[in-house]
Amino acid sequence: MNNIAEQLALAYQKLAKNSEQRPNSANAAQLIAVSKTQPASAIEIAYQAGQRQFGENYPQELASKALTLTHLTGLEWHFIGPLQSNKTRLVAEHASWVHSVDRLKIAQRLSEQRPAALADLQILLQINISNEAAKSGIAPAEMLALAAAVNTLPRLQLRGLMAIPAPGDQQQLAADFAAMQQLSTQLQDHYPHATELSMGMSDDWPLALSYGATMIRLGTAIFGARNYDKHE
Ligand SMILES: Cc1ncc(COP(=O)(O)O)c(C=O)c1O
Repeated sequence: MNNIAEQLALAYQKLAKNSEQRPNSANAAQLIAVSKTQPASAIEIAYQAGQRQFGENYPQELASKALTLTHLTGLEWHFIGPLQSNKTRLVAEHASWVHSVDRLKIAQRLSEQRPAALADLQILLQINISNEAAKSGIAPAEMLALAAAVNTLPRLQLRGLMAIPAPGDQQQLAADFAAMQQLSTQLQDHYPHATELSMGMSDDWPLALSYGATMIRLGTAIFGARNYDKHE
């Protein structure tokens, strides 16, 4: 388990080096530690090592970890998985960010269910950038219409875009990341505050950064392999 602190330190070192090599880029990207299927104890270790942003894919798992770990002040939950309408309340009540909004109905429910005592929920729209049949996310052509609708909803703030490109060769991945960068520019033309671009995972994050990622989501690089058997 001590590995977690070491892996985190290593990832932050690489991230800093990568940022130095791109002096024109804005601030270093944020690292979201993807803790899905990992026990709360693993999150505590990462927290003690200084990590504050954690990503979860399942609403129930996010909510139960959030309730278990309320003593860790400043911990910030990012919901990054597919979201069904009947699970929106768990996310609205426990997450700070949702990376995976791809339907107006989901955004409306999050808006209605966000407790007034909490800060606005920060929203990214998920784009199905590799045009995969069975994947979540909207088509690029639908982005501006969904953004316009989400932007009017109370207790939500539209902050940017997220994508999970299909695994492929470097050339295809680069093309997908480049397309996301263009969409992000287009979105910011209309919504200057929507500057976030969540893309890049353990195997491809340096490439994502070179196309303007502002948030990278690292699971196995921090926590090691996931054990789905033990999940819920
Ligand atoms: C949306 C999303 N982002 C990031 C990750 C982390 O992936 P990796 O373990 O390859 O870093 C996952 C893992 O399932 C994921 O579902």
